[in-house]
Amino acid sequence: MELTLDTPLDMHLHLREGDMLRLVAPFSAAQFAGGVVMPNLVQPVDSLERVRAYRAAIAAACGAEPFVPYMTLFFRDYSREELVAAKEEIIGVKLYPAGITTQSEAGVRDFDRIGPTVALLEELDIPLLVHGETTGFVMDREEEFLAVYRWLAETFPRLRLVMEHITTAAAIEFLDRFETVAATVTLHHLLITLDDVAGSLLRPDLFCKPIAKTPRDRAALRQAVLGGHPRLLFGSDSAPHPRHKKECLGCAAGVFSAPVALPALVELFEQAGCLEHLPAFVSANARRLYRIELPAKGVRLARLPWRVPEHYARVCPFLAGKTLGWKLENDMAGPVSIERGQGRW
Ligand code: DOR
Ligand code: ZN
Repeated sequence: MELTLDTPLDMHLHLREGDMLRLVAPFSAAQFAGGVVMPNLVQPVDSLERVRAYRAAIAAACGAEPFVPYMTLFFRDYSREELVAAKEEIIGVKLYPAGITTQSEAGVRDFDRIGPTVALLEELDIPLLVHGETTGFVMDREEEFLAVYRWLAETFPRLRLVMEHITTAAAIEFLDRFETVAATVTLHHLLITLDDVAGSLLRPDLFCKPIAKTPRDRAALRQAVLGGHPRLLFGSDSAPHPRHKKECLGCAAGVFSAPVALPALVELFEQAGCLEHLPAFVSANARRLYRIELPAKGVRLARLPWRVPEHYARVCPFLAGKTLGWKLENDMAGPVSIERGQGRW
């Protein structure tokens, strides 16, 4: 059996730079027509000049494979002139609370000061993408942050607000109350709970921000996603780190899910008997809400067993060693990836 997905999109993606970019970008390009690229590089992508340079590096890393990198600017105080100039070249502005996750130190320290820039985003109709966590107890961070989301949604009623990588039942309830709000959901938060991360031997490959939550939260996410919620978008939050940054004291947060994204999603939706809702989750909802127009790209999968490699160069993928029931026809697991892995990673 075969299945073709029409123009799949990954609406939240970390591609990194240099050798890591060259290693990981082809996995996204093989499976997706485009993706929303996060700006949390070592030097944040916080100017049009950096957006352009990063876009060119991504295009080079994707080679001949058609893949549209939808660029984001790292949130800071921006002038109207800066945002007007950038508007046509970005899909949104990504806000990180300072220090909340990987390379977010330049993020927001004082939410009382973000109003003027958010007002400009609302006026210029530029989406605001938010990593919504407080610095409270790790399991409560997302729910506590809902107060900020509520303030944003009520104070800026025309702002297009995207709650990134939601993980809780509370966030799903919140989404249902505000029509102007959308949210991305990752593959890993649909599959794992905190028990998978820390219930037995500690699993650095599953450690990420937001941390995986409770079975009840996962059930709420699954119900909404598999039930075809019109404002939920697939965003892998694929976030590669080399093994020496994961398997050490002070493990970096991030799950590298790009190589397995579509095969694992197809398997999840098929097992739930909800395959008819997959095209909206991986494409149509995003195209409608972000008003994306791009050339059609069919991505084919076959129902064949596929054992996920233990590692690609020095990076461990999500579901390493597991056998999935679906395989990409444009398989990246072969010698190509080993060749690509000759760089620093
Ligand atoms: O686990 C995460 N890793 N969450 C994020 O928000 C950032 C990401 C990264 O860049 O490594
Ligand atoms: Zn992310």
